[in-house]
Amino acid sequence: MQARDSGSMDAGAVHLATTDVNALTEAQAAVELSRLSQELAAANQAYHGLDAPIMSDATYDELKRRNAAIEGRYPNLKRPDSPSDQVGAAAAEGFGKVAHRVPMLSLANAFQPDDIREFDARTRRFLNLGPDVPLAYVAEPKIDGLSLSLRYEEGRLVQAATRGDGEVGENVTANARTVEDIPNQLAEGAPRVLEIRGEVYMTHGDFAALNARAIETGGKVFANPRNAAAGSLRQLDARITASRPLRFFAYAWGEMSEPLADTQWGALQRLRELGFQVNPLARLCDGPDALLSTYEEIEAQRATLGYDIDGVVYKVNEIGLQRRLGFRSTTPRWAIAHKFSAERAWTRLLAIEINVGRTGALAPIARLQPVTVGGVVVSNATLHNEDYIAGRSASTGEPIRGGKDLRPGDWVEVRRAGDVIPQIVDADLTRRDSDAAPFAFPTICPQCGSDAVRDAGDAVRRCTGGIACPAQAVEKLKHFVSRNAFDIEGLGIKQIEMFFNDPVLPIREPADIFTLEERDRQNSERLRDRLGYGERSAANLFRAIEERRSIALARLIFALGIRHLGEAGSALLAQHYGSWPAFEFAMTAARVGEGPEWEELNSIDGVGRVLATSVVTAFHQEAERAAIDRLIPHLRIDNPAPRATESPVAGKTVVFTGTLEKMTRAEAKARAEAMGAKVAGSVSAKTDLLVAGPGAGSKAKDAERLGVKVIDEATWLDMIGAA
Ligand code: IVH
Repeated sequence: MQARDSGSMDAGAVHLATTDVNALTEAQAAVELSRLSQELAAANQAYHGLDAPIMSDATYDELKRRNAAIEGRYPNLKRPDSPSDQVGAAAAEGFGKVAHRVPMLSLANAFQPDDIREFDARTRRFLNLGPDVPLAYVAEPKIDGLSLSLRYEEGRLVQAATRGDGEVGENVTANARTVEDIPNQLAEGAPRVLEIRGEVYMTHGDFAALNARAIETGGKVFANPRNAAAGSLRQLDARITASRPLRFFAYAWGEMSEPLADTQWGALQRLRELGFQVNPLARLCDGPDALLSTYEEIEAQRATLGYDIDGVVYKVNEIGLQRRLGFRSTTPRWAIAHKFSAERAWTRLLAIEINVGRTGALAPIARLQPVTVGGVVVSNATLHNEDYIAGRSASTGEPIRGGKDLRPGDWVEVRRAGDVIPQIVDADLTRRDSDAAPFAFPTICPQCGSDAVRDAGDAVRRCTGGIACPAQAVEKLKHFVSRNAFDIEGLGIKQIEMFFNDPVLPIREPADIFTLEERDRQNSERLRDRLGYGERSAANLFRAIEERRSIALARLIFALGIRHLGEAGSALLAQHYGSWPAFEFAMTAARVGEGPEWEELNSIDGVGRVLATSVVTAFHQEAERAAIDRLIPHLRIDNPAPRATESPVAGKTVVFTGTLEKMTRAEAKARAEAMGAKVAGSVSAKTDLLVAGPGAGSKAKDAERLGVKVIDEATWLDMIGAA
């Protein structure tokens, strides 16, 4: 509920309809929903935007309740701009954007004790530490909330930002100031600039009370404490946030004018001294055994903590080592999240359905009798591929589930772990119907009828229809507009499905998105009168599309939805080629397995043969290529900035060979990349520098032949200022 002053301010324009909702005809209901959405929007705008309310709190709530009641009676009439879906005034666009000076990353996940021993071993390998050298870690509960970055200057809170996509978040400063655990002023001795990161969360008790109040007043009911915390923090009206009981634990940092401490453990103590809440269950551990026993200790307290945690985070204690370990594209090498293990339940497998994905993969899905697993209702589970259904591993042929196959009607055990898609881990053959037949996996695409083939070595059967298969085309479009690709507000999965099948204003390929407004203008049936759109929502959609005509090269490459090409690979290609014309020219000229363009593509560190083949093949597939060519003219493509332009090795292509003495190969590569160099695996005419340690072999000869400059490790360290 909104905290409005009550008073006698209801403007004459607002009339409280009195007709019983149950007596409304469908046509009357549609008219009234439209009126309510306009009146509530005007009230919101007046209240939040103009600070001049035009109706009382009570009237506002009553209109909102009536709107919800009519939608309850006629769910099909619910408008895309329904007031029920709006928490504040406008949607997220109301928040300013904040570019994080230090990106807000996520963590790699682990589930098994062995994963943790491997994490320790991997860390030691990277740092070249023998098994007997002490290596300490800090274990902290993984709070299940939403991360927030708080910027302090001269000890005062000046900005708070949500994580967003990790690079750019939303400015929620006014809201953060209302959270009691977030100090507005730090204790004496804080660094001049200090960005503190941590988790905003809500306790179970506060969550239950908030929902109970919402049920009473017709407000928004949240699914879990995490959603409630997120919904409460992302309010355009800070007074609403203030009325919600949010809390905050500090555990990390971004930009700092001086370090907090030499160790993670020391930093946590400093955070506490500065005035933050630091989780009391954090422990300093001397190795994987201690980490695992802390994990057990924390897991045992999980149910009685009073707030949600979904695992334990392990961090290398020495900050100096954290710095040396650095980051992969989206996760640090120096930390890992050990998630709590799965929860299980038995239920009935109702049917096996086949989805056709973006790359044509026939993905079998189990439809289940809904069952609660660890507090979440599960009605679908992934079945991976045909071998998985048959009870054997696709890669090794080894039996899985003890070799038991799955048949519709079976009793099955479902397991879910954290956010991971639920899996079927067992079947009870004693309860199987005697006439249940083994599942026959389709060999033609259920969507377009093309052959579905399984290549040697591939676990998955694929539709051969390409983008002529409607399922592949629509999935490609969904990927194209997804969050880490074009991320067009108001054009999500639902809308793509709707426009894909719309005869008047179809979107069948990416280019169609950018001609939508122009095509709409030429239609006699306008979007603003159809598909649940109105004047304003149609204009909003066109504006959101317009905003995304400018796109970063890496995002564009990722958005193309080429098989095997994820965000990290796309970023590598964008960084390497530097511009769309250069990339497109190279992919057009490249032939799989031969020629200089193929060699160049494969020399990019992190690009393997599988990825290279897939990208080159996509650019040579007629229909797919034509769709790309139709898209490009609609876009303004931003080239990536060369990384760390000031370093003497920025933009240079470097190859390492032989034995390095001061650091491992992995560390050398990470350091070079952080300084803006490209690291390649083999020497070619494009190589600028070969760093050769003792025992350098054929690469040194290649370098000599190609006239590439060769230096030793000491010279290299000198060059990057690390000597
Ligand atoms: S450290 C560079 N510590 O988990 C990594 N994260 O899955 C910085 N989280 O985005 C994160 N508790 O929102 C860290 N004790 C903790 C955490 C924690 C919860 C969240 C955080 C992060 C996500 C990654």
